[in-house]
Amino acid sequence: MSINERIKEKIVLALDVDTEQEAKALIKELKGYVGVFKLGLQFYTSNGSSVFEFIKDEGAEVFFDVKLHDIPNTVKKASENIIRKGVGFFNLHATGGAEMMRQAREGADNVAKELGQKSPTILAVTLLTSISQSVLNEELKINSNTKDYALMLAKLAKNSGMSGVVASAHEAADIKSACGSDFKVLCPGIRPQWSVANEQKRIATPSYAVSQGADYLVIGRAVTASSNKVDAMKKIYDEIESVL
Ligand code: C5P
Repeated sequence: MSINERIKEKIVLALDVDTEQEAKALIKELKGYVGVFKLGLQFYTSNGSSVFEFIKDEGAEVFFDVKLHDIPNTVKKASENIIRKGVGFFNLHATGGAEMMRQAREGADNVAKELGQKSPTILAVTLLTSISQSVLNEELKINSNTKDYALMLAKLAKNSGMSGVVASAHEAADIKSACGSDFKVLCPGIRPQWSVANEQKRIATPSYAVSQGADYLVIGRAVTASSNKVDAMKKIYDEIESVL
């Protein structure tokens, strides 16, 4: 595999837009540089899954950032339906517990098998970056520090059949050493040195994230808000190439 293909596999572009038209324009412009397009609740609640097929037809993969969290049976059924929609990559909240994650895995794998597809990639969200240390301790009454808590949930996710976790690049190396190199880590909050942080707090550059073992980098506004998106993407490629 060429170095550019290796980088492309890691790039997850966040389609944080409201309309199908905007999503399609981004997909068309950036598909040469993006392995996976991420569609989340903002887009889904207004457009449904209409763009899923379009992404696949353009030769990329869909990551449905749906963050399931419900009783095990409901999550199992939802996971089955997601796979039936032709999406093999989605996520859920690790705080739903081991049984919920196991049921998601079972439901997703059963349908994938029925359709002759490979075992789906299911990632667990450990701790949302919007949950600060004080929210964790004072509101949620969880007496742990955010890093230990995220690591504990990553291990639970691994033992419950998840493919990996969503985590900050600052936690990626610890997660990899605790859960093994095959356990995937997808990192949001990616900001090249030349871009603006926006409201993201625990940011990391693309090269730092890759050097810490990140398998996937969520790229959002660093590229989508740029006046020359292809140029911004090329700069990110150059930066990653220097550490691969
Ligand atoms: O534009 P930006 O790079 O900040 O976009 C980041 C994307 O990653 C958004 O879609 C956001 O919802 C998502 N995300 C995040 N922090 C997390 C999990 C997901 O920013 N902890």
